[in-house]
Amino acid sequence: MNSASGVQFAITKIEKMTESDNIPKINKGSVPRHVAIIMDGNGRWARQRMQGRSEGHAEGVNSVHNITQAASDCGIKYLTLYAFSTENWARPAEEVDTLMHLIGWAIRKETPELKANNVHINLIGDISRLPEQVQADLRAGCEATKDCDGLNLNLCLSYSSRWELTRAVREIARLAAEGALNPDDISESAFEQYLSTSQFPDPDLLIRTGGEQRLSNFLLWQAAYSELYFTPTLWPDFSKEEFFGILEDFSHRERRFGKTSDQVNAPTQI
Ligand code: IPE
Ligand code: IPE
Ligand code: MG
Repeated sequence: MNSASGVQFAITKIEKMTESDNIPKINKGSVPRHVAIIMDGNGRWARQRMQGRSEGHAEGVNSVHNITQAASDCGIKYLTLYAFSTENWARPAEEVDTLMHLIGWAIRKETPELKANNVHINLIGDISRLPEQVQADLRAGCEATKDCDGLNLNLCLSYSSRWELTRAVREIARLAAEGALNPDDISESAFEQYLSTSQFPDPDLLIRTGGEQRLSNFLLWQAAYSELYFTPTLWPDFSKEEFFGILEDFSHRERRFGKTSDQVNAPTQI
């Protein structure tokens, strides 16, 4: 996707705005219900400018603001952002401290606007590992937006798939050992109830910024059939226009879920 056609797509959508508000009316069928993003490249963005990594992370908060707004405007129902992984705890203490401080600050700053835009904040991950004050800030954000029924903004903090899957297996094994769960009843859908994403559909589209082509322990179960999109753009440079361009690319993909093209294109039987 070149950026010119991405911009064109965004403009086309914006032209379809209703007279009364700023919400683009995009053809419902082509908008993914759930978009997940691995927000990578803050450190490299800062290094390119001879700045410290903290500056890159701070700049990344602006992209979170812009992309959340864009997702909400497009009618995306779930936006899941990988903000801090289990493995990120192993970074230098100073960088971890900066990130924790930024997370608390950003959630306090953004909550009023998120609430005004009907965005519901959800947390995914081992939140108990975060500093007490940050946990309190996050809980306040969740509480303030708990009645919002627009976009679900899922923030993955101290999250990794292996953490989540191990936790699920531990819980299932405990229930089975207590006799509260029959192992024969563990189906795929029953298993999913033990994941932190149990209330959400699987991501339709998974985007990674920053140029790496890997999942880095993100949604390994849930992304089984997600469409993947890797962009070299560093997260602080990731714009609404590029996001709209990726949505356009997604709208041309054929999701077959193991079936043939003919099958998925067959007219639906009534
Ligand atoms: C992503 O940017 C933010 C987090 C992982 C917290 P990075 O900090 O990983 O940036 P790069 O990959 O070093 O450029
Ligand atoms: C993935 O980025 C985690 C987040 C974006 C929160 P990393 O920068 O930690 O990933 P690796 O280490 O390059 O795989
Ligand atoms: Mg990185």
